[in-house]
Amino acid sequence: GERQSFYGVHQPGIVTPRPAHGMAAAFDVLASSKEDLVRLFKTLTERAAFLMQGGPVPEVNPLFPPPDSGLLGPVVEPDNLTLTVAVGASLFDGRFGLEAAKPRQLARMTRFPNDALEAAQCHGDLMVQICSNSADANIHALRDLIKTMPDLLAIRWKQEGSVPVVAAKDGPPENARNYLGFRDGTANPATNDQALMDELVWVQAGQGEPDWATGGSYQVVRIIRNFVERWDRTALKEQEDIMGRQKMSGAPHGGKSEYDEPVYTDDPKGERTKLDAHIRLANPRTAETRKNLLLRRPFNYSRGVAKNGQLDMGLLFICFQRDLEAGFITVQRRLNGEPLEEYIKPVGGGYFFALPGVLSDKDFLGRSML
Ligand code: HEM
Repeated sequence: GERQSFYGVHQPGIVTPRPAHGMAAAFDVLASSKEDLVRLFKTLTERAAFLMQGGPVPEVNPLFPPPDSGLLGPVVEPDNLTLTVAVGASLFDGRFGLEAAKPRQLARMTRFPNDALEAAQCHGDLMVQICSNSADANIHALRDLIKTMPDLLAIRWKQEGSVPVVAAKDGPPENARNYLGFRDGTANPATNDQALMDELVWVQAGQGEPDWATGGSYQVVRIIRNFVERWDRTALKEQEDIMGRQKMSGAPHGGKSEYDEPVYTDDPKGERTKLDAHIRLANPRTAETRKNLLLRRPFNYSRGVAKNGQLDMGLLFICFQRDLEAGFITVQRRLNGEPLEEYIKPVGGGYFFALPGVLSDKDFLGRSML
């Protein structure tokens, strides 16, 4: 089966191509001493390395609980699994004497004007992003973490999501659609461009962050409900004006194919692409706003029916950036008040810092932070 490498300067699951299934799982840390916290990160490292590598599950005396849930059978197949571990601001609150180590911009996520945040789906000391080709491989990994660290971690909330698998065709790959029916990911920066990833995603030495944070990345998770019934009754022209792209092709207005570049310089009044279109506000494509680019890695979620009889579904928005203020916070501020807000409602999430990668089997997640 497909396997991603666990070891490296950066963690997997950030510039790794997005597989079909993703989960964001937030935890409260129960460890009560620095020693316990070290044990937590060492165990997390050991489990993540095993789960991403796969292999047979040890057999034990049947009078004991089995060491593995068994969900994937006697041999764990990674199925393209990645685990990506990030820390929340609350981990640096003084419990572990880590105040001075806090990434400079890491803070508890604040409320934006259109948010209706639910406490039970926000924040956390630790965020584990789990992605793979199947929902089962993700659940298997989550249950492994919960089973192996009951005294160190308590799950706080989780949100799963998926993206449709798009059949390969000639030419550049087309992006999967989100639940508003638009292609999502088109204008994302190229993850195979290392210099660009250093510029936009990975924390660099000398940018004012603590030394240990080099090679990590700020991670924003947002659970954004989509009011799909209302959207499905909205005129196509209006939908395309709101997003700033053509629905079926994904092309910008005035373009033909998904990867045509939107052009705004000859459209100062917004006659082709509205000035308040989602993509135009999110990325005005000027020299000054280049530093605000971010890497999105979202999944669609669908989870039953809301109390008022509407479908409870939307976007598990995840993005990475090397500067939280220049990235997500600035872009979201520009989006505040956008016409799309009539159809979306952020209800949960948090700000986290994805740790630098684990270099070898002598290293462990968070070593340089502790
Ligand atoms: C682009 C949908 C939330 C930032 C897009 C595109 C769609 C889309 C369809 C165009 C295709 C593409 O380039 O990927 C949505 C939906 C959202 C949502 C349905 C909520 C449910 C957000 C949020 C942010 C954001 C919260 C950041 C604060 C961006 C950016 C682009 C983009 C930066 C690329 C613009 C460009 O470079 O042209 N979004 N989005 N989006 N979105 Fe969103």
